[in-house]
Amino acid sequence: MSQPLRLGIAGLGTVGAGVVQIIRRQAALLEARTGRAVVISAVSARSRDKDRGVNLSSYDWESDPVALAKREDVDVFVELMGGEDGPAKAATEAALALGKDVVTANKAMLAMHGQALAVAAEARGCVIKYEAAVAGGIPVVKVLGEGLAGNEITRVMGVMNGTCNYILTHMEATGQGYNALFAEAEKLGYLEADPNLDVGGIDAGHKLAILSSLAFGTQVNFEGIELEGIQRVTLEDIRAAADMGYKIKLLGVAQMTGRGLEQRMQPCLVPDTSPLGQLQGGTNMIVLEGDAVGQIVLRGAGAGAGPTASAVLSDICDIARGHRGPVFGQPAATLDTPIAALSKRPAAYYLRMTLKDKPGALAKVAAVLGEAGVSIDRMRQYGHENDQAPVLIVTHKTTRVDIGHALSAMKTTSVVAGDPVALRIEEV
Ligand code: NAP
Ligand code: HSE
Repeated sequence: MSQPLRLGIAGLGTVGAGVVQIIRRQAALLEARTGRAVVISAVSARSRDKDRGVNLSSYDWESDPVALAKREDVDVFVELMGGEDGPAKAATEAALALGKDVVTANKAMLAMHGQALAVAAEARGCVIKYEAAVAGGIPVVKVLGEGLAGNEITRVMGVMNGTCNYILTHMEATGQGYNALFAEAEKLGYLEADPNLDVGGIDAGHKLAILSSLAFGTQVNFEGIELEGIQRVTLEDIRAAADMGYKIKLLGVAQMTGRGLEQRMQPCLVPDTSPLGQLQGGTNMIVLEGDAVGQIVLRGAGAGAGPTASAVLSDICDIARGHRGPVFGQPAATLDTPIAALSKRPAAYYLRMTLKDKPGALAKVAAVLGEAGVSIDRMRQYGHENDQAPVLIVTHKTTRVDIGHALSAMKTTSVVAGDPVALRIEEV
């Protein structure tokens, strides 16, 4: 009979309490599937008195997560506290130093310290598993690292922050502006303690950085991501994009190009008929493309106790079964140092501007675009209001640099009111 796998769980919030619940509810199933009992030796959180909706009386309590990680009766340290540094990192390092495996849901810690932690783990023959860190319940880490191991990955793309997708899709559905939907997301408890992690695209950027490393054999490089949040997306843009056949998404894209690794997390337009365009509410979607497999689309809950705990249990079961392997799909020492692609792949762009309604205004805008080397694919002008006319333009493929030149030049004409908006249109 195999020895039980003994866990120390640090963090008993949404995810941690969800993990304890599954381990209690599914003890027999977990043992049948892994051939070992999965047991909890001890737990840790800040407050011992908080009611977490789960019975913790049979587990030892440690107020210090580092002490928990070091306990002799802990084989696997399960880090579910969060935060890129602080106790999460200290306790993870303590566990690895003692040769213990680690399971974590902490995308911030992995995005900022993934390479150093992977080196430390592999030096001791340990594993760090982190299925829950990217897209909650969607098993994308396993799919990329194992299911597609025989593919050269050509592109990774997706909606990886449910809160942003909730805000954007509800802006369109309800006709309310960004601020009203932000307040609603806050009321519903969707936002991270620091909401800028969500709406600023940082949380989704952390996830993209982890997927890039797995996909392209490069060291995690969060700083190399071109990052923009959804704070400046207006209802006007959502409606105008819809009118042209698109949805606006906070879209992450990573691809290896001849110019280096391109990583973007920014509001983009995608066709409204595409799977990404149809994605509603807080759901996540990851699109993976490989040279042999073609395109794979994964869709599911990116957050919440059940889905995230499901992913944590997948990692725990892997360790119980003896499924090991390097942290980022190949030994950390062999991961390339990524070179961030300075110029991005050309794309069509959506431009929205308000023109002063006077003769020759449109011609001036067309001339400015032409001089910047930007070609117009489609254009739409709407009814005038107070002598101002909203104009939408979809360009042919061009570069962000040329679009930038055109936008700067437009501001110097006397026919464009306010700042024009430019959003990339992603081919999906
Ligand atoms: P949470 O609800 O805020 O829970 C955090 C837990 O960590 C709490 O139990 C807290 O204790 C404990 N904690 C914080 N600092 C501590 C310290 N210094 N010592 C001991 N315990 C400490 O967070 P969560 O939503 O469960 O998220 C946990 C991790 O999962 C994060 O890395 C997050 O990014 C990741 N994640 C979350 C989701 C999700 O849907 N929530 C999805 C994917 C990934 P108290 O309860 O006593 O305050
Ligand atoms: N704040 C994240 C989201 C939670 O909205 O998707 C899971 O990482």
